Amino acid sequence: MIKALAILGRQPAIGIAELEAIYGSELLRVINNDVVGVDVEVGDIVFDRLGGTIKLCRVVGEINSVDWIAVEKSLLSNLDLYVPRPTSGKLQLGLSVYGLNVGLRQVQNSGLRLKQTLRNAGQSVRLVPNQSLQLNSAQVLHNRLDGDKGIELILVKDGGRTVVAHTSAVQNITSYTIRDRGRPKRDARVGMLPPKLAQIIINLANPSALDVVLDPFCGTGVVLQEAGLMGYEVYGSDLEPRMIEFTQTNLEWSRERFNRPKDWILEVGDATGHQWQPFDTIASEAYLGQPFSAFPDIDKLHSVIHTCNLITENFLRNLYPQLKSGGRICLAVPAWQDPKNSAFYHLPLLDHIGSLGYNRVSFSLASNRDLIYYRPGQVVGRELIVITRN
Ligand SMILES: C[S@@+](CC[C@H](N)C(=O)[O-])C[C@H]1O[C@@H](n2cnc3c(N)ncnc32)[C@H](O)[C@@H]1O
Repeated sequence: MIKALAILGRQPAIGIAELEAIYGSELLRVINNDVVGVDVEVGDIVFDRLGGTIKLCRVVGEINSVDWIAVEKSLLSNLDLYVPRPTSGKLQLGLSVYGLNVGLRQVQNSGLRLKQTLRNAGQSVRLVPNQSLQLNSAQVLHNRLDGDKGIELILVKDGGRTVVAHTSAVQNITSYTIRDRGRPKRDARVGMLPPKLAQIIINLANPSALDVVLDPFCGTGVVLQEAGLMGYEVYGSDLEPRMIEFTQTNLEWSRERFNRPKDWILEVGDATGHQWQPFDTIASEAYLGQPFSAFPDIDKLHSVIHTCNLITENFLRNLYPQLKSGGRICLAVPAWQDPKNSAFYHLPLLDHIGSLGYNRVSFSLASNRDLIYYRPGQVVGRELIVITRN
């Protein structure tokens, strides 16, 4: 039986690649589009560092059926196992269902029957009402279903069986909001990298514990802030002195607020020619070109692609002699989505990355094609590329 379940975010392939980068494919099993089984004890998974997993659950059992009536029956007859009572006080109970063929009304009714059975056994219970088959992070947090007086019962179809699990942690939306909107210096022109995505970029680069993480396009320093919070030594550079000042202010704020990073190196430098001090790995969102609110005409698009490609390619050439052989990096580079057919325009250099002395890393459980972070309707997406130096 697997030990933990990771419930994935809006773009599951990205969450899967992140988990594979950290744990390796042998310890993972993709159960369905939303859920990955992880053969690691929940206590050994540092959930706060994962950007692409929204809930982490501890597996408590398995029911040998996917028929809802049989699943409910098994839950009711094994209540001590599936719904252990708190030592005192009222139990907060919630239900979330993934992949099983069941309607909302049936889940709500099963919840009521669970509650009634617990009450009959002398346990006072509050049931968090389902507005959909799955409770969202805010409902889990608000009702403390991840605490010692609350249970979010997770039921996941796994082939012909149902895995039963308890949520042990959900993404801390408040903390992400503070780390994003609370920073003193922000700049819409260089884009707002969500802290979650910064974590994913860092995890895909997969630095070792004592590594120095370099961001050579550091902008306002989101990647550096997140790498610092994850305990890495951080080092940033950017072409624009103003960005270095912004990052300095933001990292001072982070140190004051979260006590991390303790220290850092920042310097102004053009990534296409800069000589960096020693570093181990690179996690970065490179230059994305100008933002577009609507899809541009094709000449304009080609000119932007050309500029971004040139900067990224020249950066990779400059980096080559400065990166150790085998060194692994993750870059978010732009990819532009054509609204007519949803196809993406990619940086041309990706087709000949080998000629620059790098190999593109592929994942067993996620396709590189799906590693483009974008919001619906957005023109410029971020393609996550993981490469190693020859
Ligand atoms: C999309 S932003 C990066 C955001 C950043 N990763 C973060 O965590 O906030 C791109 C940055 O690349 C910088 N840039 C553009 N061309 C550059 C170059 N040739 N060398 C270094 N930085 C460059 C811009 O000044 C901008 O700050």
